[in-house]
Amino acid sequence: MTTAQPTGPGVPATLAATWRTLTEATSRRTGSTLAALATVDPAGAPQVRSVILRACDPDRGTVAFATDVRSAKVHELRVEPRVAVTVYDDATGVQLRLAGRATVVTDPEERRRRWAGFGAHTRRAYASPTPPGTPLAPDAATTAAGVDEPDDAWFDRFAWVEVRVDAVDRLDVSADPQERVVLTRDGDAWTGGPVTP
Ligand SMILES: Cc1cc2nc3c(=O)[nH]c(=O)nc-3n(C[C@H](O)[C@H](O)[C@H](O)COP(=O)(O)O)c2cc1C
Repeated sequence: MTTAQPTGPGVPATLAATWRTLTEATSRRTGSTLAALATVDPAGAPQVRSVILRACDPDRGTVAFATDVRSAKVHELRVEPRVAVTVYDDATGVQLRLAGRATVVTDPEERRRRWAGFGAHTRRAYASPTPPGTPLAPDAATTAAGVDEPDDAWFDRFAWVEVRVDAVDRLDVSADPQERVVLTRDGDAWTGGPVTP
């Protein structure tokens, strides 16, 4: 993450701590691995759901998750790319609230590379020929759906979504008194500083 001209107190330290948390959360399972991802639907209503943070890039200031390209969240973020992501790690007492813009990655090599890193269980999430949220017939066998399909069909359903983080709100409730720092990004420059928790 470029910290070219920090103008507020706590900017470099907060950025470093934020990306350390996110790097750990995407390298192994921590309390910050499971995020709440908020979108706005086309009717203007908020929508929020859990997603696993799978990668981050501190230099570019991005976090990424995998999802089904047919899911409601993908439709929503294609219409309104502004999203919010929140994690809280009970072991450290740190909440991160991130805001940014989401993009569905189209680069074929990157999609292949990410898919190659998934285990069988993760890939299985893309086995269903019907989109997420499709009502099931009362007698439908949910576990057998798509099981005989070639892996390519599963791959085609997979979306890698990257969020370019434009704002960070870091709250440490383990500190006494609690500490909260709010940062915003303009280009590669981050500004901001401590605020009343
Ligand atoms: C522990 C847990 C982890 C999840 N991880 C993901 C994930 O990484 N990607 C994803 O698309 N959905 C994930 N889900 C399911 C979503 O929360 C959600 O139910 C699903 O994606 C449909 O959301 P949508 O209709 O808003 O698109 C996870 C759910 C739980 C409970």
